Amino acid sequence: MSIPLKAAETLPKTELLSEIDRLRKEKNAVILAHYYQDPEIQDLADFVGDSLDLSRKAAATDADVIVFCGVRFMAEVAKILSPEKTVVLPDMEAGCSLEDSCPPEDFGKFREKYPDHICLTYINCSAAVKAQSDIIVTSSNAEYILEQIPADQKVMMAPDRHLGAYLSKKTGREMVFWPGSCIVHERFSEKELIKLKAQHPEAPITAHPECPEHILRHADHVGSTSSILKFVLENPAEKFLVATEPGILHQMQKSAPHKTFIGAPGADGNCNCNQCPYMALNTLEKLYNCLNTLGPEINVDEETRVKALAPLNKMLEMSPLQAPTPPKSGRAF
Ligand code: 13P
Ligand code: SF4
Repeated sequence: MSIPLKAAETLPKTELLSEIDRLRKEKNAVILAHYYQDPEIQDLADFVGDSLDLSRKAAATDADVIVFCGVRFMAEVAKILSPEKTVVLPDMEAGCSLEDSCPPEDFGKFREKYPDHICLTYINCSAAVKAQSDIIVTSSNAEYILEQIPADQKVMMAPDRHLGAYLSKKTGREMVFWPGSCIVHERFSEKELIKLKAQHPEAPITAHPECPEHILRHADHVGSTSSILKFVLENPAEKFLVATEPGILHQMQKSAPHKTFIGAPGADGNCNCNQCPYMALNTLEKLYNCLNTLGPEINVDEETRVKALAPLNKMLEMSPLQAPTPPKSGRAF
């Protein structure tokens, strides 16, 4: 029996969870969630991962429906890779500041200025920008892919200038950057991080490469969300300072409850300001509505999809065979 949509907000939590479970089976749906999602969403997802893990899952699933609990560009990637499937996103407003920083027309003009450059484009962008790119990268495979490009080939990177600067510094390779950034990772405060480190000198700092250089230079480890998780679980330290969106702390606490994880602070010394406002738009109620109505649905026009598929397939071909293995958690593992 289907519950009227309005009732989702008034359903007791246990009923809401069991209705989501019933609908997922009824519709042959798979629920994919990013590490920045609300813990309750992570716990009921069929799979939790970083952008690369989730792209691979979306390409391989035999479900009829992909419910993407993440942001719009991630759901778009699922649709580009699996066009025959219905792909839904609990809240269509769940965008990304990196995507917003790179309008497709301006990106096209930028590319025209550097005709002899190969363009490595971060997956955090629209399908229309992917369609004008050579190879898509994520934070977990960007360095690995860059190393496969001949040293004499000129490279440009869009839209995250911090990821670009990090890769350039790490590999010693000069690159042209699009001037985009993530509003969440830019909010970390170096001054507050130094103060926090002074209070916990034994705690290694792990950071996402979307952080600016003044944060990354204090980090003992830099990597994608999966890589950050792997680092804190494998490192013998008992306490860590984590410079990325605080949603990731949930999997850390579940997998290593004996360890302490402290979110890196923003300018006010409080890490709550580093919550991704786009990821936070997805809620259990919207997830339930989304499964019930199979909307809002992601659609990508076929010409753009085919053009965007080529650089995405290149990424999948050029990625390391094994993505970092996430720990057992929720329904996912
Ligand atoms: P990951 O691919 O590392 O999960 O990063 C996605 C993202 O949007 C980080 O802000
Ligand atoms: Fe985009 Fe930043 Fe949110 Fe990641 S954390 S989805 S890069 S706005």
